[in-house]
Amino acid sequence: MQETTTSRGGDYNVRPCTTEDIPGVININAVTLPEHYSDYFYYEILKDFPTTFLIAEQNGIVAGYIMCRMEYGLSMTRRFGLAKKGHIISVAVLQEHRGKGVGTKLIEQSLDEIRKQSGKECYLEVRITNQGAIDLYKRIGFRVTSTLHGYYKDGESAYTMAMSL
Ligand SMILES: CC(C)(COP(=O)(O)OP(=O)(O)OC[C@H]1O[C@@H](n2cnc3c(N)ncnc32)[C@H](O)[C@@H]1OP(=O)(O)O)[C@@H](O)C(=O)NCCC(=O)NCCS
Repeated sequence: MQETTTSRGGDYNVRPCTTEDIPGVININAVTLPEHYSDYFYYEILKDFPTTFLIAEQNGIVAGYIMCRMEYGLSMTRRFGLAKKGHIISVAVLQEHRGKGVGTKLIEQSLDEIRKQSGKECYLEVRITNQGAIDLYKRIGFRVTSTLHGYYKDGESAYTMAMSL
């Protein structure tokens, strides 16, 4: 399942995360996002959902990651019914590696893995002011499905965005 993205910034190898990559993932999360998790959480997600936890690396450096969870519940893309869905818990790319297609590649490759696990839709939460990420998700095919008022600890609201697979 190894694939390489070539862009202005060089070569990025997008591949499944391993336990050895987790410190690099935690570092990216720490420097890019206000939402942090316990170290234990990353290892648990990797253990339970290994094929949708991906990293992008360049010259041995972890430049970006995406971690997802498979869930079963109310459909977010149809009016009624239940669905098996992938939930993008977190995706981030180090500042110096952005704008080179790494985030797109991580998301699209995780969507492929969710499809392989019979996931029929995918969803995520995003800060309503994170316009860059919202635009990126829209380009990929996500649509805003609801607003979660005061979702984040600092009081900011989130959009839920979802797409059918
Ligand atoms: C959101 C995030 C993951 C996107 O990662 P990324 O690697 O920059 O994403 P991409 O490069 O695929 O796409 C982003 C932009 O680069 C552009 N791009 C994609 N490939 C490109 C290429 N080969 N050359 C130039 N630009 C390119 C895209 O068109 C897009 O344009 P935009 O600047 O108008 O948005 C990243 O900005 C990030 O980590 N942000 C902080 C954490 C965060 O907010 N995460 C989301 C929480 S919900």
